[in-house]
Amino acid sequence: MKTTTHFPVQGNKYLTTKILTTLVLILVGATLPCTIVQASVKGACSDCHTMHNSQDGSAVVTSGTGTTLLIDNCVGCHSSATNQTIVNGIPIVWNAVPPNNPLAGGNFYWIAQGGGSAADDVFGHNVWGISAPDHNILPSAGAPGNGGFTCGTSCHASLATDPALNPDVGGGSRGGCQGCHYEVAHHDDSKPWFRFLKGHITTGAYVEGIEAPTWEQNAITDSTDRNVYRGTDTTYTWGAGLNATKTASAFCQGCHIDFHQKMGVSNPWIRHPNDILLPESSEYGAYDPITDYSNEAPVAYLDPAVPARAEAVVTCLSCHRAHGSDQPDMLRWDYTNMAAGTGCYTCHTTKY
Ligand code: HEC
Ligand code: HEC
Ligand code: HEC
Ligand code: HEC
Ligand code: HEC
Ligand code: HEC
Repeated sequence: MKTTTHFPVQGNKYLTTKILTTLVLILVGATLPCTIVQASVKGACSDCHTMHNSQDGSAVVTSGTGTTLLIDNCVGCHSSATNQTIVNGIPIVWNAVPPNNPLAGGNFYWIAQGGGSAADDVFGHNVWGISAPDHNILPSAGAPGNGGFTCGTSCHASLATDPALNPDVGGGSRGGCQGCHYEVAHHDDSKPWFRFLKGHITTGAYVEGIEAPTWEQNAITDSTDRNVYRGTDTTYTWGAGLNATKTASAFCQGCHIDFHQKMGVSNPWIRHPNDILLPESSEYGAYDPITDYSNEAPVAYLDPAVPARAEAVVTCLSCHRAHGSDQPDMLRWDYTNMAAGTGCYTCHTTKY
């Protein structure tokens, strides 16, 4: 990707024979999930690979990582000009028009839709190939809460700068989508990491969880269509946290360092507690995310294979989408207009 104004490809038509292997149903609610579900790609090699990077003289990808003879790059495959969020088996994270049923991570539509103005930047992570660096949070300042650690030009400074310019621990460079989806394994179900989310300090540093086979496309209407995230209520430190806990919170904290380290320590809080058990009593007792799940405020579980109410924890993803949303700060709900039982009141049931 050389350009930052790339537009979604038309419906990813080359993946017509694509078949998902996600026939395993995740059973939640009464029957709790007990296996880690993975999904690897199927279909003709030529759906996704090109041997000479040219066919019938058509234009092909000439930039980007391009190391595996792919006919497109991350953004190209995972975007769509339609409002559909699964196109020929490809989970779509960036639609050119408002998405119908955004997936679990949200969507990059809102951050990109105005052509990348400062006003749009608040709706998501600014990512290479989709938007320019954030106008409000400059690369020189880096990820909010980074404790001063930006590592020069790197993903800690911005996910929207040219990945080729981002030195990586252990050599090479990374950025954009791969600032978070550090090691993709589209062909390999044996990899334990949730959604290809991995750190780059130690080999054990990756996110664990149970993957909803259709990426929560119907989560709003079907409460069984949900990911189950791993959570922790132990104290961990930056650099070692993801390896030790394998949680999405520790993953986010890899860049947003202070947002965990100095929160969740003790009451009185200086930031909203995170990685804290959701009490079973008082106002919190009225929200049982197992039987009365709300996609507005999902929780993580100490053991995602056996989710228990007593082991439900607040995670970054309880309030935020990972990619972007139609709300400032990538929130899961409209902070200025919350009805009873929604948004903050999902957990703070008596504060409405
Ligand atoms: C639906 C898209 C898709 C199809 C179909 C597909 N691939 Fe891939 N392949 C990918 C992607 C994406 C990668 C990128 C790197 C990764 O995720 O490992 C990849 C990576 C690879 C790699 C390098 C990494 C590795 O895992 O060894 C090889 C070799 C490969 N593919 C061979 C094939 C062959 C042979 C076929 C046909 C049997 C095929 N692929 C079909 C998407 C596809
Ligand atoms: C040739 C098209 C193609 C390219 C290029 C491609 N993907 Fe994918 N990707 C797919 C398809 C198809 C799936 C769904 C099948 C699956 O679950 O693996 C998928 C699934 C995913 C998932 C969800 C995995 C899961 O556990 O469900 C992530 C995350 C992802 N891709 C990220 C990336 C990133 C990052 C890149 C660039 C390094 C990339 N993809 C490049 C086609 C592609
Ligand atoms: C690889 C580094 C990295 C990781 C991991 C990361 N972020 Fe960020 N985040 C950034 C950077 C850089 C910015 C500032 C630029 C921007 O907004 O994209 C940012 C900005 C944000 C913002 C403010 C958005 C805005 O523009 O106002 C939120 C909210 C956020 N991140 C939440 C999260 C959550 C939740 C996670 C975990 C799912 C996460 N981040 C993981 C690097 C990261
Ligand atoms: C700031 C980190 C971050 C960046 C940057 C990022 N992702 Fe993700 N992505 C995540 C997380 C975390 C999830 C899991 C969301 C969940 O389950 O709530 C995810 C989920 C996904 C999925 C599964 C569908 C879904 O919504 O759950 C796909 C596909 C995907 N990402 C592709 C991409 C592509 C392509 C890019 C670049 C355009 C990208 N991601 C950039 C963190 C990131
Ligand atoms: C209880 C809900 C909640 C949880 C949990 C939560 N956040 Fe937030 N976050 C918010 C809200 C609301 C805002 C908007 C600003 C505000 O109200 O302070 C925000 C703002 C942010 C910002 C933007 C800050 C800025 O300077 O622009 C980042 C980055 C962020 N959160 C990251 C995280 C990370 C990382 C985690 C997990 C360690 C996390 N949040 C957990 C609700 C939450
Ligand atoms: C996923 C559940 C969840 C969501 C969503 C949530 N909270 Fe909380 N909140 C908690 C928990 C758990 C505590 C800590 C309770 C304790 O002290 O043991 C807490 C504590 C607080 C406190 C401190 C209370 C005290 O006693 O000091 C405030 C203030 C607060 N939340 C506001 C908010 C706001 C505002 C939102 C929406 C932006 C929000 N919360 C969303 C679970 C949640």
